[in-house]
Amino acid sequence: MAERGSGTRDTLSIRDNRTGRDYEVEVLEGDVVRAMDLRQIKVEDDDFGMMAYDPAFTNTASTRSSVTEIDGSKGILRYRGYPIEELAEKSDFLEVAHLLLKGELPTADELEGFVHEVTYHTYVHQNIAKLLTGFRYDAHAMGIMISSVAALSTFYPEAKRIDDAQTRWEQMVRIVAKMPTLAAFAYRHHRGLPLVYPENHFSYTGNFLNMLFRIGVKEFEPDPVLERALDVLFILHADHEQNCSTTAMRVIGSSQADPFSALAGAMAALYGPLHGGANEAVLRMLTEIGDTENIPGFIESVKRGERRLMGFGHRVYKAYDPRANIIKKTAHDVFEVTGKNPLLDIALELEEIALKDDYFVSRNLYPNVDFYSGLIYQAMGFPVEMFPVLFAIPRSVGWLSQWEEMLLDKEQRIARPRQVYSGAGERQYVPVDRRG
Ligand code: CMC
Repeated sequence: MAERGSGTRDTLSIRDNRTGRDYEVEVLEGDVVRAMDLRQIKVEDDDFGMMAYDPAFTNTASTRSSVTEIDGSKGILRYRGYPIEELAEKSDFLEVAHLLLKGELPTADELEGFVHEVTYHTYVHQNIAKLLTGFRYDAHAMGIMISSVAALSTFYPEAKRIDDAQTRWEQMVRIVAKMPTLAAFAYRHHRGLPLVYPENHFSYTGNFLNMLFRIGVKEFEPDPVLERALDVLFILHADHEQNCSTTAMRVIGSSQADPFSALAGAMAALYGPLHGGANEAVLRMLTEIGDTENIPGFIESVKRGERRLMGFGHRVYKAYDPRANIIKKTAHDVFEVTGKNPLLDIALELEEIALKDDYFVSRNLYPNVDFYSGLIYQAMGFPVEMFPVLFAIPRSVGWLSQWEEMLLDKEQRIARPRQVYSGAGERQYVPVDRRG
């Protein structure tokens, strides 16, 4: 194999012990080999050729991406090169949205223009409001959101023109702008409250809080600490490279579906309790534990494999999730305003016990972004059904950034994995009256 950095190509030598043949495949930047290079490895000439077998894509890079960088072993998360800690401290959500969508932090003029565009696209067609209020009063907010986002595609049929940069941008702005409106409408409907429409003088999160929580007052003033806390949480959730929902977005988008339909699919992927539904699951878990004295028994049931410690563990972080650190601090800021969430003590003790327990230590299971976010949301007055929605609003920025990157990537085509067939060989049809 060629020496690294010698100017010659890096390659990987493979010996097929079934045939004694040797192969040399190129090692590309990022320490990857092309799965297609394995196809030449055959026993018989008419064989299909070798494939890589990777259920759940645990060791497969499906794309090159310049959006988000994660180093799971070092606890690093960067958007377009900027560390998440700096963005959470110094930036705000719409600036980060611009960074993710356009690749660069905006100039002052660009930022003003982008904020204006988003602010003036927050309204939804009245028929969307009608659709949304047609759901049963107890409908889960995420189900309402998924349906409403999918329905938006019928209001903007031009969204199908995914090859046109300007049309793509218009849909991206629409989605970023309308997600809080849809989310607030879903919440108000669930609570049986009249809808509150967007108001342009608020910030992105201030407007959201107004649409959610204004009752009986003409002038609503969002608490600046809560407004900022929500903004920070939105920054932290804005993107996370090739996770389950982003992969769904890319896969659906690869068929050239419009972005609203693709985004509805990504949201459905996020809804599951192992992904964006985890913060809701954490809250339910903490409520069920109920008291710190029940923690040891709970931990034992986790170790027996009867259940999972929700909010712990991550496919890529094998160290502390950097977002969890920031969220823990934000939680304290929020509790100064709202009063401490009584479940916090259970969460803190659960974390402390788990981080000392060999079961969790040996498996590198640390708190993830969802362990504390639910406590903040609950203290701010959100019902648990809204938690995945609060994840979906900022993540739509990440989904859209990754979707456009996929569309512009010359190497991408319609996504279509292979399988290793393991079912029955050819069989003859047996009529129903002769089946045993
Ligand atoms: N509680 C108990 N055991 C766990 C947990 C957990 N939360 N997570 C992983 N394990 C164990 C698992 O049983 C396995 O043990 P063993 O080797 O003995 O079979 C080992 O750790 C490896 O787990 P895995 O399922 O192979 O890991 P994964 O990378 O497939 O799963 C995960 C990642 C996030 C789905 C998983 O850790 C989990 O279910 N966590 C709880 C749900 C959660 O908090 N999800 C939010 C993720 S962060 C937000 C997001 O990005 O969506």
